[in-house]
Amino acid sequence: MSMTAAQLAAAIPKTELHIHIEGSLEPELIFALAQRNGLSLPYDSVDALRAAYAFTDLQSFLDIYYAGASVLLREADFHDMAWAYFLRARADNVVHCEIFFDPQTHTARGVPMATVINGLSSACDRAQAELGISTALILCFLRHLSEEDAFATLEAAMPYRARFIGVGLDSSEVGHPPSKFSRVFARCRELDLRIVAHAGEEGPPAYIWEALNDLKTERIDHGVRSLEDPALVAELAKRRTPLTVCPLSNLKLCVVDDLKHHPMKRLLDAGLCATVNSDDPAYFGGYMNANFVQTVEALGLSREDVVTLARNSIEASFVNEARRGELMALLDSAID
Ligand code: ADE
Ligand code: ZN
Repeated sequence: MSMTAAQLAAAIPKTELHIHIEGSLEPELIFALAQRNGLSLPYDSVDALRAAYAFTDLQSFLDIYYAGASVLLREADFHDMAWAYFLRARADNVVHCEIFFDPQTHTARGVPMATVINGLSSACDRAQAELGISTALILCFLRHLSEEDAFATLEAAMPYRARFIGVGLDSSEVGHPPSKFSRVFARCRELDLRIVAHAGEEGPPAYIWEALNDLKTERIDHGVRSLEDPALVAELAKRRTPLTVCPLSNLKLCVVDDLKHHPMKRLLDAGLCATVNSDDPAYFGGYMNANFVQTVEALGLSREDVVTLARNSIEASFVNEARRGELMALLDSAID
């Protein structure tokens, strides 16, 4: 009995490289944390909150995403949010995750950096110990805020330097090009932080060039608009720069009008190191397997495509070579 490509996608061990932990906060948990912290929400019920998840673009999502994150106050809140994500990841056969967090969303509300990082990092330790999932944290700067604010955030995170492996750049893309943060990322490179950035989600290919050349990113988050610039596609292929693509996010934020028109197949056919990820799964209708299976079905991807996507993700991850070998071996034995 051979599996379909979609069944194979669901069954194989996978790596997730683009998940905003605040985007894993399910409406039920938002309400539970609000109650635990004595906060009131501008929605009467879980259903009323979920009904507000009808996005027209990135900003319409971000407004609700930042409001949802405002229920996070204590270390246990950050831990519980991340632990709930790891249980979902386990259920989808995810064996390694690199997790974005947005400290400025919390420090701006008076939550100490220590609270954010200690809560997330204890959940990461627990995921390794209890679920066998390897993890890493990536601190993201909010690009709608200033360079000065990003520098202050980096400074505040320095006592916890050992708890995160890299930095990223997220939030409202258009009007906030990567070059706005060239000096911050230069400093991050001096600190031996791994470098990624969101680019080419809503923004133009020029932003992807800037992420590569000014920030010196090792991966591009999203990057779906790269296909508009053949010279850029050639450069990404030559450098083998991974793209962390998030199909259900692209659908829900109206980057594509139908999953059948999603560029994933074209990215693969162009020889790019494209990967599948969930971005903000509580808001976009699904975790890793939902993204993988729906993309495979909408685009008619083959089992070979599925294996390529899974391998790309292992290749693109920031694990050490020993763990990379383990992840490849796990995948190989699942395919046999
Ligand atoms: N923050 C959370 N999700 C994001 C996305 N898809 N793009 C930019 N910033 C984000
Ligand atoms: Zn993202």
